[in-house]
Amino acid sequence: MVKLLTMKKYFIKTFGCQANKADSERIARLYQKRGYQLAKSIREADVVIINTCSVRESAENRVYGLIRNLTRRLSAQTGYTLNAERPKVVLAGCMLRYGVTTLKKKLPQVDEFLRVEDYSFDLPPIRTEKTHAWVPIMEGCNNFCTYCVVPYARGREKSRSFDEIICEVKKLAKQGYQEITLLGQNVNSYGKDLKPRKKFSDLLREIHKIRGIEKISFITSNPWDLTEDIVQSIKLSKIDKHLHLPVQSGDDKILKEMNRKYTAKKYLSLINQIRKEIPEIKMSTDIIVGFPGETKEAFENTVKLCKKVGFDKAYIAKYSPRPGTAAYRFKDDVSPQEKKRRWRVLEELINNDNTI
Ligand code: 5AD
Ligand code: SF4
Repeated sequence: MVKLLTMKKYFIKTFGCQANKADSERIARLYQKRGYQLAKSIREADVVIINTCSVRESAENRVYGLIRNLTRRLSAQTGYTLNAERPKVVLAGCMLRYGVTTLKKKLPQVDEFLRVEDYSFDLPPIRTEKTHAWVPIMEGCNNFCTYCVVPYARGREKSRSFDEIICEVKKLAKQGYQEITLLGQNVNSYGKDLKPRKKFSDLLREIHKIRGIEKISFITSNPWDLTEDIVQSIKLSKIDKHLHLPVQSGDDKILKEMNRKYTAKKYLSLINQIRKEIPEIKMSTDIIVGFPGETKEAFENTVKLCKKVGFDKAYIAKYSPRPGTAAYRFKDDVSPQEKKRRWRVLEELINNDNTI
């Protein structure tokens, strides 16, 4: 008990996507192994691990703000009632793409940088949920959409072994987990890099057989990798009848500039085909407004596509130029006000948000 009282405490602040949430569950294990226990709040923590997102500038700015806040309190010596000293600040996640040397210069307050090897898949996650579990099945992306940092931040596609995933899900079922979400930037291309090659649809079928697991979801799918066999496997009873299929734009010129490998027409015909097979399927998407060169007409093409599809939900983002990506060299020529207007139009259209 005495030991427990003197144990140091960690707190993880996670930014960004579900992949980061899953990573944080392994970072938690790392800190438990290092002899820390979970702090109830950030104020109680001896060490604050910030799991960063680099997809948009605003996400990075929130990280800078948090670091400033945590370390400013050091000089003011306020805010930390349990710790007289400021917490140790540890940085992990996608911002590490800038390299430790650059980050150290920009953020001298950071005490340690965690690299993905420090929280690899060998570490069993400490899960925050009791009946639903995130299960990463692959890392990285090979697609190089021109706006996106993911291939730089998370590297090329790397699938986890088929048996390792099955083993993990069986264990989860034994522990009482009923719902799982398979995670990857591009889950449809799961297994292409494995020897022998495996298919995502085979993984779905195998997981479907596991007793105790009642609901299986997966994110994210890519329009050009969503093959007929995957559509067929979604028909299995335990597979969630929801497909998240990012379209990004409904304009062919913009799609080309984004290095998306389909046209609006092709996307629409894919949706029609899926709906023919699975009429009850719910559809969600990601859209970027204000990509370089997006004229009002180009944006209207996106509006038209959205009206045709009738998405159940959309995650709409204003284009944010990201250093290191191909689109960073394009002129960011849509004004912030116009980006906001386009964002509102789609929010109201798809997410029925009348409060904005
Ligand atoms: N600017 C705005 N949104 C972006 N996304 C990715 N990169 C950017 C960027 N530079 C969005 C895409 C992607 C989602 C995860 O984030 O819509 O699907
Ligand atoms: Fe980024 Fe495109 Fe890969 Fe998605 S498919 S992670 S948007 S590069």
